[in-house]
Amino acid sequence: MEIEHSVLDRYSEGADERQPDLCCPVDYDASLLKLLPQEIIDKDYGCGDPSRYVKEGDVVLDLGAGSGKICYMAAQLVGDKGQVIGIDMNDDMLALARKYQPEMAEKLGGERVKFVKGLIQDLAVDLNEVDSQLQQYPINDAESLIRHQAWQQTQSSKQPLIKDDSVDLVVSNCVLNLVEDSDKTKMIDEIFRVVKPGGRVAISDIVSDEFVPKHMKEDSSLWSGCISGALQEQEMLDAFVKAGFVAVAYDKWEADPWQLVEGIEFRSVTITATKPKNAPCLDVGHAVIYRGPYSEVYDDEGHVYPRGQRIATCARSFELMTEGVYGDDFIGITPKVLKEPTSWCAPAGTLRPASETKGGIHIASSECCSEVDCC
Ligand SMILES: C[S@@+](CC[C@H](N)C(=O)[O-])C[C@H]1O[C@@H](n2cnc3c(N)ncnc32)[C@H](O)[C@@H]1O
Repeated sequence: MEIEHSVLDRYSEGADERQPDLCCPVDYDASLLKLLPQEIIDKDYGCGDPSRYVKEGDVVLDLGAGSGKICYMAAQLVGDKGQVIGIDMNDDMLALARKYQPEMAEKLGGERVKFVKGLIQDLAVDLNEVDSQLQQYPINDAESLIRHQAWQQTQSSKQPLIKDDSVDLVVSNCVLNLVEDSDKTKMIDEIFRVVKPGGRVAISDIVSDEFVPKHMKEDSSLWSGCISGALQEQEMLDAFVKAGFVAVAYDKWEADPWQLVEGIEFRSVTITATKPKNAPCLDVGHAVIYRGPYSEVYDDEGHVYPRGQRIATCARSFELMTEGVYGDDFIGITPKVLKEPTSWCAPAGTLRPASETKGGIHIASSECCSEVDCC
């Protein structure tokens, strides 16, 4: 509880006046900053640039949006068919971000960004609704508490703030570390819940090279300063894999630590991951070849790909291995004539004889010679 108060107080101060201690140097895309009001740029408390992963048409959710900088950058990239939602728990930060909404809507040629009040560890709860409910029905005894909890449960299931499978890309800039350790698993499960199947995450945050000792975690200044709440570097990736994400990777990993405290290095990283599609495993005769340079690799679902071998895959895995982050590492082979679909998940290492895919279509992203990646 003390930690939560310190985070609220520190970012209320940060909304009011620039806090240089909370800034970590970031190399943003200068062309996207041109449209932004100076106050938004000055009150930047990020540690990376997840806006680089935004695509046209995306519905983007920014966790812990702060002054709204990443939201307003993303809004320029999603175009008029996309949408950006910034979520933050702090009224002062929300007020700062919303202050520039009309100006930015005019510059962008439309209202593409909205800011909502919520906790990133419970994306179903609309804290604006909670505020209104508590004004009307204050909690002053056990009975009013029980009534409030029942209302909250119904509200979250019937009108969740962020719906299941509704977001193309979840971004965040230096916020996950601020959430209590006991809520971090729930927070990543919530991210998984709201991302569309096939959707992505790009999270810039701070990680530590060693586990952070208890006395540092109990230091509210170190915690609210984005230091001692950091997950250890392997723990961070494992948490995303455990939640069900695949293709989990450190896309950026700053060589120089941002802070060194009691010998522990705290550095900025950017994690990317994909939520797999929940399509059934159907075999129509696909194969993929891992290009190398490693002798073999495994994916997050336990499949093994020895270098250069034609490995049988179901249609769902084929799509995953030949698109997005895996795409450059694999050659995909679609048979000349697709087989009748059969329900089948290839056991790890199953080979597809060349005779079955001969004359088929090869998908080779890194050598693509046309817009459709087919050579
Ligand atoms: C370090 S600042 C980063 C702000 C912004 N992402 C940026 O790049 O400038 C952290 C922000 O996350 C918000 N925050 C912290 N914990 C939160 C939580 N559990 N739920 C929602 N917002 C939270 C804070 O209010 C603050 O605005």
